[in-house]
Amino acid sequence: MSEAIRTIAVMTSGGDAPGMNAAIRAVVRTGVHYGMQVKGIQRGYSGLLNEEIFDMNSRSVSEIIQKGGTILYTARCPQFVEPEVQEEAAQICHKHGIDGLVVIGGDGSYRGALALSRHGIKVMGIPGTIDLDISCTDYTIGFDTAVNTAMEAIDKIRDTSTSHERCSIIEVMGRNAGYIALWCGLANGAEDILMPETYDGNEQTLVDKMIEDRHRGKKHHIIINAEGIGHSTSMARRIEAATGIETRATILGYMQRGGSPTCKDRVYATIMGELAVERMEQGVYNRVICHRDGTFTDIDIEEALAMKKRIPENEYRISKILAK
Ligand code: ADP
Ligand code: F6P
Repeated sequence: MSEAIRTIAVMTSGGDAPGMNAAIRAVVRTGVHYGMQVKGIQRGYSGLLNEEIFDMNSRSVSEIIQKGGTILYTARCPQFVEPEVQEEAAQICHKHGIDGLVVIGGDGSYRGALALSRHGIKVMGIPGTIDLDISCTDYTIGFDTAVNTAMEAIDKIRDTSTSHERCSIIEVMGRNAGYIALWCGLANGAEDILMPETYDGNEQTLVDKMIEDRHRGKKHHIIINAEGIGHSTSMARRIEAATGIETRATILGYMQRGGSPTCKDRVYATIMGELAVERMEQGVYNRVICHRDGTFTDIDIEEALAMKKRIPENEYRISKILAK
């Protein structure tokens, strides 16, 4: 029987995502519910190394469930890949009496947590990223809000694109993954969705399709371009030159990461935050909370990091059928 976890800490790491605050709230209040001491660590692994650690209670997380961003701030800490830095961080956890650490972030953040687990810290990961690029889970905190924000922005671009009978190339976030692009493409009825996982770089195919669509009476053409492909502005110039159709590029950028979380992000983040602490209370740790096949569950952190994720072929196939 492993020793009970009496003090937990929570941090957010990597890019922020709407709903992280709901997860923090759930972690803190569930910890309090089980009689644990709860600490907050500001600015991810950087803040841990700088000992930006403070006590939290139920009141520390009042009025945050509806807020975007993260009240704990977040950071990228490149030096955390170094073993001696990881060891130093583990020593800091021991010094502050932290025996359990909840890390809300993506794959990179889990790698940091895994390193700490090898120094005796009991860790739990919660998937927080707008990119949906975490292999072990069908849901990540922030994706739903981000795609809704992007969808509304793209609707607006569509209005003006149609009025001017233009082509719009709209670049969405996602780092090397195309999930945001795919969902926006489906939700906004895009003519083309360019994702790193599927795009072969052949612009002539896009050009031919645009010309054909014009002949079939289409008044606009929306191309959703994933950040992992990028170069939307130069792509727009080339496409306009090749088709003679006015083409404009819009890069949606950081607006996709902000804003009040949707109902789904608040509820799922809340359930995941509660589950992370409940599992620790049960003596289960070094795992990642996930949502798979409609169920909230947890999976070994190393196993989670070894998994691969694929763009759902069916959704991509449907987007192509409907872009007629
Ligand atoms: P995300 O957690 O969203 O994937 P990053 O990839 O930027 O975002 O990772 C967040 C932080 O996690 C990094 O800044 C670094 O501190 C830590 N991290 C990333 N990769 C590793 C690694 N291989 N080993 C240890 N820590 C890592
Ligand atoms: O991981 C979330 C994300 O917004 C990615 O979509 C994007 O590539 C990256 O973070 C941008 O990171 P930064 O905030 O460091 O510019």
